[in-house]
Amino acid sequence: MKSKIRKSWAEPYKIKMVELLQMTTATHRKKVMQEAGFNTFLLKSADVYIDLLTYSGTSAMSDRQWAGMMLGDEAYAGSRNFYHLEEVVQNCYGYKYLVPTHQGRGAENILSKILIKKGDIIPGNMYFTTTRLHQELAGGKFEDIIIDEAHDPENEFPFKGNVDLNKLEKLIKKHGAHKIPYVSMATSVNMAGGQPISMENLRALRALTKKHGIRVIHDMTRVAENAHFIQQREKGYHNKPIAAIVKEINSYTDGATMSAKKDALVNIGGFLAVNDWDVFEEARNMVVVYEGLHTYGGLAGRDMEAMAIGIKESLNDDHIHARVGQVIYLGEKMMSYGVPIVKPIGGHGIFVDAKKFLPHIPQHQFPAQTLAAEVYLDSGVRTMERGVVSAGRKANGENYFPKLELVRFTIPRRVYTQAHMDVIAESTARVFERRNKIKGLKMIYEPKYLRFFQAKFQPL
Ligand code: F0G
Repeated sequence: MKSKIRKSWAEPYKIKMVELLQMTTATHRKKVMQEAGFNTFLLKSADVYIDLLTYSGTSAMSDRQWAGMMLGDEAYAGSRNFYHLEEVVQNCYGYKYLVPTHQGRGAENILSKILIKKGDIIPGNMYFTTTRLHQELAGGKFEDIIIDEAHDPENEFPFKGNVDLNKLEKLIKKHGAHKIPYVSMATSVNMAGGQPISMENLRALRALTKKHGIRVIHDMTRVAENAHFIQQREKGYHNKPIAAIVKEINSYTDGATMSAKKDALVNIGGFLAVNDWDVFEEARNMVVVYEGLHTYGGLAGRDMEAMAIGIKESLNDDHIHARVGQVIYLGEKMMSYGVPIVKPIGGHGIFVDAKKFLPHIPQHQFPAQTLAAEVYLDSGVRTMERGVVSAGRKANGENYFPKLELVRFTIPRRVYTQAHMDVIAESTARVFERRNKIKGLKMIYEPKYLRFFQAKFQPL
């Protein structure tokens, strides 16, 4: 007889060291939020209780990673930690050539400069802020080819990160394959709420791009979380280890940019990895201009060592199940209070649907920015806007008005406990209770690039 008792996941580690948190009062939070111009990016970390601004570079490293830091070989050239990292990238990820960079956007810069010519089209399964900007700065134009389901927070399709191959074919027909240097394919699509792409879709993407001689470049920042969803949801993958699924995903692509600050469990680091010698040769040369010599790319030897160890830990099945399990726990708790969130729950955080949460605030009054500020005011939990502010402006100066107007609650890896998740859900539910009284914001300062980082607002 199958038992009806729930079988819980638990963290596959125990805690060896703790960092004390700052508790704040409502009066203090009000004051500092005003000073920060209602932008959670401009808060001081010392004023934050639970920090869900990002899961980028905020993971807890393991004792093994810390031990690895002591093995840093800080030689300017040919550090042994580089060769260790190279070996891990080749063995675990299956890419041939590695160029380390200080973080993901360093790799995006180099790759975009090498592959994109002025007037090129770069189709992708939804944009990411830095990725698209580097494509544009290199003279390209991003075209969104994610399936329509991804733009609908309520749609429960299990692979909302999938590429719409019809949209891609239309672009190829319209512009010609020679205008498309590569398809920018992300796993666990960030801006869609951490939604995975299926192996079936990837295989079809590979077949179509191969026919036209178009590369697939993989934003593999959260490939392990995507592999988890393939394992849970896709036929034929139930018994496959995460490590094997990751390698299969990568095998359908020609190269990757990586922000190791996510999946790979380090506080800083990234890389470009490619299979094509020509692209590698140029990248290895160009990295010297923007990051540092090709055997360190802006990183200390110890950072590369921690990354090599972190990559291996990130592919452990128990690790990834607990990681995503914690995110799902938080999402289910929020839903139990009626809080509208993007479904299905993604791998790296909960995305609250601000349009549904604050339907009386029009998008030009920044509902998601407002909601992020309100959650902080309630409890000191820091989150991030992912809506009209993040989307920025088009080349002609008009605002992008994205369909998704979200507040992102991203969960750092191995950092917070289930009790923290309860506090976060309860705080969001309290704000939800008084949602009708909340008013929108007016933007009073707007920087030119990636405005969400530094923009300032005033309550209406
Ligand atoms: N690609 C994706 C999918 C990302 O999520 C990020 C960063 C990058 C590229 C850029 O990498 O930060 O190392 O330069 N995302 C962080 C976030 C900042 O909070 O979502 P980076």
